[in-house]
Amino acid sequence: MSILSGKKIVLGISGGIAAYKTTFLTRLLVKAGASVKVVLTPAARDFVTPLTLSTLSKNPVISSFTNEDDENDLWNNHVELGLWADLMIIAPATANTLSKMVTGNIDNLLLAVYSSAKCPVFFAPAMDLDMYKHPSTGYNFEKLACYGNYMIPAGEGELASGLSGVGRMAEPEEIISFIENQLHIEQPLHGKKCLITAGPTHESIDPVRFIGNHSTGKMGMALAHDLASRGAAVTLIMGPSNIIQEHVNITRIDVVSAQEMYDAVHKYISHQDVAIFSAAVADYRPANPAQQKIKKSSETLHIELIRNPDILGSVGMMQHKPFLVGFALETEKELENAFAKAKKKNTDLLILNSMNDAGAGFGTDTNKITIIDKAGKTLKFPVKSKQMVAKDIIDEIIKRTF
Ligand code: C5P
Repeated sequence: MSILSGKKIVLGISGGIAAYKTTFLTRLLVKAGASVKVVLTPAARDFVTPLTLSTLSKNPVISSFTNEDDENDLWNNHVELGLWADLMIIAPATANTLSKMVTGNIDNLLLAVYSSAKCPVFFAPAMDLDMYKHPSTGYNFEKLACYGNYMIPAGEGELASGLSGVGRMAEPEEIISFIENQLHIEQPLHGKKCLITAGPTHESIDPVRFIGNHSTGKMGMALAHDLASRGAAVTLIMGPSNIIQEHVNITRIDVVSAQEMYDAVHKYISHQDVAIFSAAVADYRPANPAQQKIKKSSETLHIELIRNPDILGSVGMMQHKPFLVGFALETEKELENAFAKAKKKNTDLLILNSMNDAGAGFGTDTNKITIIDKAGKTLKFPVKSKQMVAKDIIDEIIKRTF
């Protein structure tokens, strides 16, 4: 999935021959999952038609402050559009438009949207080689970078004038990958590695039966997604779960038993920055799982259980452990038990949820948590969706680590 998926993008097109490439750019942005609204300068309308761009973007295309044709919607609100955008792309950015972006000469709708936008702005210059090399253009590039805009450099090659040199607008694919790279770099967890355990474990009694629990893996998956969408490389070690939710930054390792989960955790734990243990691991497993299906014979059946390894506890004892987050699901003396668990397992944060709270626990879409830190400080949160709970937990981790 592209990082542009779900992003609201204003594409501003100014009047240069490279405007023809913006039809492909619009198509690629929409394909990447972005919502695109196109603003044309009056001059750009000579190079590309609003009909083409509105068909490709699936949104109306605007180019002036007023709509003479629509009595009910006479005014195109540039401030609203500027604030709507998660990012703005100005492509092609002509020498004229660039110089007005620098000086604040707002004489068309595109420039009004640009000066109202609070989001990152990318511009892809396109002009003839001598215009590109002109000192005023260089000055404008520098000024726009100082204002916090991102320049997508023009390429070299044949130009519309027949001359050859620098000034060709970057190709649509290059524009997309430039923006994607920049957005990745700016993510708060870019370059960080996080390991998560999630879901239940199943402990075999015989080839057809197991000891398990009601965990679905929803909370762990929400945590994995939140981390991944903030740029972390996530290793998700998942017990048996039907939840399928993919993300390019998530590597999922499926396991069944606690022992398999333990082995997978210790295979991947070194070099992790953060480890979150949200799995509901079975504490015991049958000592001698039967090789064949156990037949009904006597009135009672005794299965000897032995302790499973404590995965979180084992990581808590590591000399160079990652920032460690554990979960505690308690049914009585919640805080007291949770404090003891945090100490015993050497967690940096312990997330307590109580089976006694409505809206918390297995299978629900909501959770209610209290975060306990190393100093014993507690942070209580109200019932929220598991996605919002994941966000609260990751916010807290970021505050304390990076
Ligand atoms: O000891 P308890 O099961 O209450 O601790 C819960 C925390 O420990 C959770 O974070 C859970 O994922 C983790 N855990 C583990 N390995 C076990 C048991 C629990 O990692 N065998």
